[in-house]
Amino acid sequence: MSNIKVLDKEFEPYLSEELIQEKISELAQQLNKEYAGKRPIFLSILNGSFLFTADLFKQITIEAEVCFIKLASYKGTTSSGNVITAIGLDANVSGRDIIIVEDIIDTGKTLHHFLPQLESSSPASIKIAVLLNKTEALAYPVKVDYACFDIPNKFVVGYGLDYDGLGRNTKAIYQLKA
Ligand code: IMP
Ligand code: MG
Repeated sequence: MSNIKVLDKEFEPYLSEELIQEKISELAQQLNKEYAGKRPIFLSILNGSFLFTADLFKQITIEAEVCFIKLASYKGTTSSGNVITAIGLDANVSGRDIIIVEDIIDTGKTLHHFLPQLESSSPASIKIAVLLNKTEALAYPVKVDYACFDIPNKFVVGYGLDYDGLGRNTKAIYQLKA
């Protein structure tokens, strides 16, 4: 695999397509077991998690629903001040088991702001599944229940993750070159 350029920055290969798919399969198997008979709702946070959600959901073999909301707090390569809800929740989550599907947890700000909103709709349970967990960057009290990868505090793109809107359309994940 070779480096890629997104706008003004160069990124080097970090997680291969094979490794990503392997971890997603493991997570799907775990969720298939844990949520059998519960008909969970996979609540995907757009935009970054659309590919992760698709690949994960394809491997969910139990009865399950999927829905999408749009939250954003990022500008360029750092988290911005505000969390905006651009597309809200249309599903009735009351009494339901919710699995939040996120591409990456960085500071935790996005989910920290969204969780009370979700809790106010009285779901039976809420768990958080992420592809990437930037454990060192966490600055808000958010508990990640399932993480495919723990990664260091470095900016990454690819497989749905963007740098200023670009770089999402790769099968592997790339890390900002030092
Ligand atoms: P948080 O609110 O700081 O946890 O940031 C979460 C959101 O920021 C994610 O859903 C991503 O959209 C974005 N984000 C965080 N880190 C990265 C990164 O390294 N690359 C691309 N997007 C990121
Ligand atoms: Mg995101």
